[in-house]
Amino acid sequence: MTRHLLDVDDLAPAELDAVLALAGRTDLPPVLAGTGVAMVFEKASARTRSSTELAVVQLGGHPVYIQEHEVGIGVREPASDVARTLACYHRVICARVRDHGTLQDMAGALDAAGAPVPVVNLLSDLSHPCQAVADLLTLRDEFGPTGLAGRTVAYVGDANNVCRSLAKAAATAGMAVRVASPAGYGFDAEEVAALAAAAAAAGRGGTVEVVDDPKAAADGAHALYTDVWVSMGQEEEAVARRRAFAGYTVDDALLAAAAPDGVVLHCLPAHRGEEITASVVDGPRSRVWRQAAHRRTAMRGILSWIVGHGAGAPTLRPWWEGGPR
Ligand code: CP
Ligand code: NVA
Repeated sequence: MTRHLLDVDDLAPAELDAVLALAGRTDLPPVLAGTGVAMVFEKASARTRSSTELAVVQLGGHPVYIQEHEVGIGVREPASDVARTLACYHRVICARVRDHGTLQDMAGALDAAGAPVPVVNLLSDLSHPCQAVADLLTLRDEFGPTGLAGRTVAYVGDANNVCRSLAKAAATAGMAVRVASPAGYGFDAEEVAALAAAAAAAGRGGTVEVVDDPKAAADGAHALYTDVWVSMGQEEEAVARRRAFAGYTVDDALLAAAAPDGVVLHCLPAHRGEEITASVVDGPRSRVWRQAAHRRTAMRGILSWIVGHGAGAPTLRPWWEGGPR
């Protein structure tokens, strides 16, 4: 079966471990040799595009960067047709999309067609799993590969795509995840229950809980994480969001509530003076550049794993002829 990565919970806990282990290797074989990886971007990117492109090259593959206006998903043709077209040339389709449904349409069309081409989410409105893998790699550097279980990560700010994937990944690794968001910008009760249930099912002692205020979230935390208040695509809500998030800035006072060895994470881009102060993001406890660097190691692990789980090697027989390739 071809496996897709639309969010962290597409991976069983042991599979997430396997991705992390692959990401940690410097001797990965060139599993993408002679094959292409499509990288479709409907939104801007400084980190994801470069890190994915470099990871593909380091695994022997050929990345093709495709901007939104070039393919026009849903405008020029439907996502299902774009996916089936790209599957004629590429071993893996990676995409950054406005609407998570686009990724589901792509994966669904490929599965229905019997095309053994995985879809990897490079950020959607709902999730950012590749970032979450880099986040775990960064935390493992800090606390040791077996040192995450029992530690706490506090996320202060918008319960968004980055927060959702982080919560899933960190809880799967056995961490206690605390999320503090202003009213109207947090996970709803149903989602918190689902995240908590998944954390329990992972069986590593991880938990997910929502707390009332940033200080309560940060109290004794080993990692303090935040992300922008206005995500890509939410620009029209900027004024209302900045007003709602007042008091949720990760600043020195909040960091003082964290554990003495607690570190600061941010997926970037950072907006100094909004969700985080310059003193914190540029301070000695910040690990944001290590995190950014790990986007490339994470992609090496993700692509290596996914190619080993149902991605068919391209041959002269394309997917639409069916049968073995
Ligand atoms: N963190 C992250 O995904 O950054 P970019 O949006 O620059 O790719
Ligand atoms: N939440 C942000 C993350 C950017 C990497 C966004 O979606 O714009």
